[in-house]
Amino acid sequence: MADAVRFSAPGRINLIGEHTDYNLGFALPIAVGERTTVTLCPDDSDTLTVCSDRSPDPVVVPHSTTPGQIGGWAAYVAGVVWALRDAGHPVPGGTMSITGGVEMGAGLASSAALECAVLGALLTATGRPVERLDQAHIARRAENDYVGAPTGLLDQLAILFAEPKHAQLIDFRDNTTRSVVFDPDAHDLALLLINSHSAHHHSGGEYAARRASCERAAAALGVASLRDLHDRHDRHVDGEEALDAMTESEDRRRARHIVTENRRVLQTVAALGDNDFGEVGRLLTESHASMRDDFGITTEHIDLIADTAVAAGALGARMTGGGFGGCVIALVSSAGVDPVREAVLATLDRAGHRPPTVSHTRPGPGAGPW
Ligand code: GLA
Repeated sequence: MADAVRFSAPGRINLIGEHTDYNLGFALPIAVGERTTVTLCPDDSDTLTVCSDRSPDPVVVPHSTTPGQIGGWAAYVAGVVWALRDAGHPVPGGTMSITGGVEMGAGLASSAALECAVLGALLTATGRPVERLDQAHIARRAENDYVGAPTGLLDQLAILFAEPKHAQLIDFRDNTTRSVVFDPDAHDLALLLINSHSAHHHSGGEYAARRASCERAAAALGVASLRDLHDRHDRHVDGEEALDAMTESEDRRRARHIVTENRRVLQTVAALGDNDFGEVGRLLTESHASMRDDFGITTEHIDLIADTAVAAGALGARMTGGGFGGCVIALVSSAGVDPVREAVLATLDRAGHRPPTVSHTRPGPGAGPW
């Protein structure tokens, strides 16, 4: 068969629009510079022997694999093999080696980076072109139906469609993406990524519980998805007013996060278009409060990081990703980078937390053959 192929996929930061994907709403992600790289030496066999820098033992994935057969990190690889074959595509055999550059459990979509890198390598080896949207669906099936994590399509679309100096406005109603210029350097700003190193998991119950709350709220309001409340908003019936039809409850608060978050995503896009970064920062901070107070997915540790960054001068800060740990992003003037970094490190130290890693991040390229 063909020569060795190499393919890599980045992690992602969601600038704003959290848990909106499975509610058919909006999100605004970028790719980070950290990437997971897959090298595949294809052959004509019907197994893949997979090595990872995160595990001493190789795992053999037969092409005939089915959900439940392989667990751990290799389940993401096996899931892609299974979903690709199930979609009617050929899969090569061979040996695959994985270098995982995206930290696991940090809310940076390391799972989707692995899925998209594996998928890209397999497709490159067979030479079959598959549209990026179809790739996103295949990678998501690996995660939902093989691994068993009930996640939406945000991570895969973000990783496959990302572009340097841009964010992608995703509309999950029809899974379309639109590039939006996001180039903090050009405005003397920095996007800081503050990694708490407190890991999260999406195959656990909390993510699924949020999904279930949203589905119950939509059913109680007589709409197919909470996105429909936003569309009513477009027709001059306020999406939040529509929630008045529900009595105050946990489900109603969860739904309010989705309705207000969809609005904030579109407001952020408008503010970026106006170069109004003060407003962008305000929306980021408001999003964090909504995730904390309405959606209930932040932790005290994460709140402390976001609050400290804002108190130290950040234009805005919010947790990014599915929640319950992971990373905070902060939009900061270039002159504010050191004061924010120092304040966060000092405050977390005083509170007895492990030191976070604070890095300056920029929107990078999406998945590709490099
Ligand atoms: C995780 C999931 C995504 C999305 C985010 C929250 O990253 O994989 O589908 O729901 O959480 O926005």
